[in-house]
Amino acid sequence: MARSDKVISLVKAGVLNDKTQFKRVVESLIVDERQKNHHVIAERLEHELEKLSTSNSALNGPTQKSNKVSNLVNEISPKLKFSELILPNSVQEPLQELIEEQSRVELLRSYSLEPRNRVLLIGPPGNGKTSLAEAIAESMMVPLLVVRYEEIIGSYLGETASRLRKVIEYASTRRCVLLFDEFETLGKERGDTHETGEIKRIVSSLLMQIDSLPSHVIVVAATNHSELLDKAVWRRFQLRLQIPQPTRAQIQEWFKAFESRHNVELKYAYETLAKRLYGSNYSEIEEFGRVILRKYVLSQPSANIKNIISSTLKTWSERTFSSI
Ligand SMILES: Nc1ncnc2c1ncn2[C@@H]1O[C@H](COP(=O)(O)OP(=O)(O)O)[C@@H](O)[C@H]1O
Ligand SMILES: [Mg+2]
Repeated sequence: MARSDKVISLVKAGVLNDKTQFKRVVESLIVDERQKNHHVIAERLEHELEKLSTSNSALNGPTQKSNKVSNLVNEISPKLKFSELILPNSVQEPLQELIEEQSRVELLRSYSLEPRNRVLLIGPPGNGKTSLAEAIAESMMVPLLVVRYEEIIGSYLGETASRLRKVIEYASTRRCVLLFDEFETLGKERGDTHETGEIKRIVSSLLMQIDSLPSHVIVVAATNHSELLDKAVWRRFQLRLQIPQPTRAQIQEWFKAFESRHNVELKYAYETLAKRLYGSNYSEIEEFGRVILRKYVLSQPSANIKNIISSTLKTWSERTFSSI
């Protein structure tokens, strides 16, 4: 459709109060502007359109809306505490700062400042990205909303975009942590089908929406594959934290916490445990802990924990070795 026709349709839709048609025309104008690289205009149009869908959903009534959204996000009451995680200062300190800003928002606002609310967690699996989102929610005493991509990604671009919008609208109206776990999934899903351009548009439209979220929504995006995210994505997040594999000292610390959590004494040098398990992630170390605990329980009353650990360590390294 030529631009002048679009303008006429827009006026018609306005006169007839046909919101669906109105939305369609504005969406196509956005596509046009983007193709012309007029990103600011496209962004502003998109922003205005967002207001329209907010007012629409208000008309639909809260029950209908929340029913639908409940399929798109998992709402979790957080339990995991920061104190249960072993974190390097480079992760702990910025997150504590963010939590303090969030908790003392009134003071900040009296100086016309907003707390930070956008966090990107980057790192290999099993070292606490998902756990951190939960711990942030727990310390803020707010629910954790986990975005469900399997429900969000539809066969049509418009469908996916509008579901994402629904999630964003829903989150905007409450204090919460909104988690986009394995964030790159959103980008990868259609990558194979030569629609990378489209998915990029979804991601960039999502990012714009993330930007427009009120600061009481803490957005956490987690990824193993930062290389799949371009610089524009990175820049949107005020905190970009690398979540590394545990160091030997941290593995030792983990085993000390393990002993007091389960009220067992391992009678094994922490240094040796750390040396042997170095290179594993926390998820694997936890699994190791569960294996020895099971053996320990089943070999009561004459359990010899030291022997259990030695034999488990032996098969453990063989297991790791054979899986390489
Ligand atoms: N820093 C940590 N300290 C203690 N336990 C951890 C830590 N990070 C992860 N874990 C444990 O390892 C498991 C996997 O962590 P998870 O948060 O799912 O990792 P990711 O999301 O990075 O893949 C969880 O059960 C969690 O309790
Ligand atoms: Mg995870």
